[in-house]
Amino acid sequence: MLRTHNCGVLRMEHVGEEVTLSGWVQRTRDLGGMTFVDLRDRYGLTQLAFNMDTNADLCQQARKLGREFVIQITGKVIDRASKNSNMPTGDIEIEVVSLNILNAAKLPPFTIEDETDGGDDLRMQYRYLDIRRNPVRDNLMLRHRMSTATRKYLDSQDFVEVETPYLIKSTPEGARDFIVPSRMNEGQFYALPQSPQTFKQLLMVGGMDKYYQIVKCFRDEDLRADRQPEFTQIDCEMAFVEQEDILNTFEGLTRYLLKELKGVELKDFPRMTYDDAMRLYGSDKPDIRFDMTFVELNEVTQQNNFIVFDSAELVVGICAKGCADYTRKQLDKLTDFVKRPQIGAKGLVYCKYNTDGTFKSSVDKFFSQEDLTKWAEKMDAEPGDLMLIMAGETAIARKQLNELRLEVAEQLDLRKPEKFAPLWVVDFPLLEWDEETERYHAMHHPFTSPKPQDLDKLDTDPGAVRANAYDLVLNGSEIGGGSIRIHDRELQHLMFQHLGFTEEEAQAQFGFLMNAFEYGAPPHGGIAFGFDRLCSLFGGQESIRDFIAFPKNNSGRDVMIDAPAVVDNVQLDELNIRLK
Ligand code: AMO
Repeated sequence: MLRTHNCGVLRMEHVGEEVTLSGWVQRTRDLGGMTFVDLRDRYGLTQLAFNMDTNADLCQQARKLGREFVIQITGKVIDRASKNSNMPTGDIEIEVVSLNILNAAKLPPFTIEDETDGGDDLRMQYRYLDIRRNPVRDNLMLRHRMSTATRKYLDSQDFVEVETPYLIKSTPEGARDFIVPSRMNEGQFYALPQSPQTFKQLLMVGGMDKYYQIVKCFRDEDLRADRQPEFTQIDCEMAFVEQEDILNTFEGLTRYLLKELKGVELKDFPRMTYDDAMRLYGSDKPDIRFDMTFVELNEVTQQNNFIVFDSAELVVGICAKGCADYTRKQLDKLTDFVKRPQIGAKGLVYCKYNTDGTFKSSVDKFFSQEDLTKWAEKMDAEPGDLMLIMAGETAIARKQLNELRLEVAEQLDLRKPEKFAPLWVVDFPLLEWDEETERYHAMHHPFTSPKPQDLDKLDTDPGAVRANAYDLVLNGSEIGGGSIRIHDRELQHLMFQHLGFTEEEAQAQFGFLMNAFEYGAPPHGGIAFGFDRLCSLFGGQESIRDFIAFPKNNSGRDVMIDAPAVVDNVQLDELNIRLK
């Protein structure tokens, strides 16, 4: 080994020992008689001391060390005169007796410290340098501890990790596939898995009983802070289970991870139906760290000649506690927020419940103090509160108010990353109407089973059929989703029919699965967690990018290795691909 200790481990108890350390030069400080060097590795920083009086040559060499030089030193651990309580090794320093430069380094394009001067693009291009910084390294360490703990928990529950292939056929998770041409099968393509969905179901038919995999998935979809084209799932499946068993098992996993990694102990996770989530929060992934639930106000707002409300399918509001003192400017800002094209509302109605008991609303022309009292009663508002109201077509008004609720909560600092509020959302609809293609799509995926009691509605009212499908939501982010599957060939066949697959299409795409169902498929179900999302939530950040060692940028590029890239014509010829 090129070292006896690492740079984070030495303490007072080591004083007097001779040690050899290796690492990177974080910075040098030349104080004339003394030169100090901070030496860094994954484990921490240690101060090296070079004394001009006792070893002038060595001190001269130390002065010339550039940032990020890789060096090896030998020296004695000594009690440090001016201690630094901010550093774990701050009580000691090393009196260096020999210095060996293992590798020189060019000046890095940004400073490799917690607060860096490097912009996003530069840091992505030199990701290996960014990884040397504590915040990024800590995120990757958290990710490592999360995956280790996940394996430990699932292993203790008898789950078996099985790898499934990456070169497969399309899986219907709703995004576009990344495709890979096959050289040996001219004109044919593999698809990279959007998830191992069909394979894990086949593993259940194969009798594996409890499967998991921490696995890469690939989806060609628009990127956002919580989406990457390749991302990782904790993918799981169990045989001989009902929904309740899956919820309990994976609530157990989430609770275990929260306790092990964050020291947070939570009671039973609350559950909410999809319908309630939409009605009370306007979202299928409500952030329940704070209240501000929706109150429907049609009854107390309509028939007052205010056309916006009178013509609306839904009038719905939230009560922002203690916000009656919002200034005109603050209210205008909220109105501008909902009018942004991404949200698209025409406006926002507000009503202040002043501390003196009077009301001041943006629609005073239409509503008397008595009318506004009724609003306040309905919304449980108290003096000092602010009522914010939107109106329109039900689904749209709910969606817009959801955005507003989150924005107000952000302003009131109610979305604290150190607070954890999980929620199971259950009873999702089985099918979702797609305006563009004018047909129903599976809301989760086509292998999800309908609730048996709703089966008779499949022909008459398909949109009302509920599924045995569930999502785990944490702090307003969907971290996992799954379902109890169809394990019966006839029912699977019926589902494909309702999703508009012809007999031939269903056979060509999923014949292998339907065939397998004829050889003794056990009842089964499962779930997949978005592992990157889970890591970023545990790390208290919104973006998953810094929890992935080598992520893609917003255009899906790896700017470090410069991918995607054009390929050689020879390679294209071999694949029989002609570019236009
Ligand atoms: P689903 O499509 O809901 O289910 O995906 C499961 C979880 O994966 C995460 N996720 C993503 N994370 C980062 N980037 C992305 N592009 C991305 N897309 C999804 C989310 C999501 O909750 N086969 C089913 C699971 C099952 O039924 O068992 C599936 O993949 O956190």
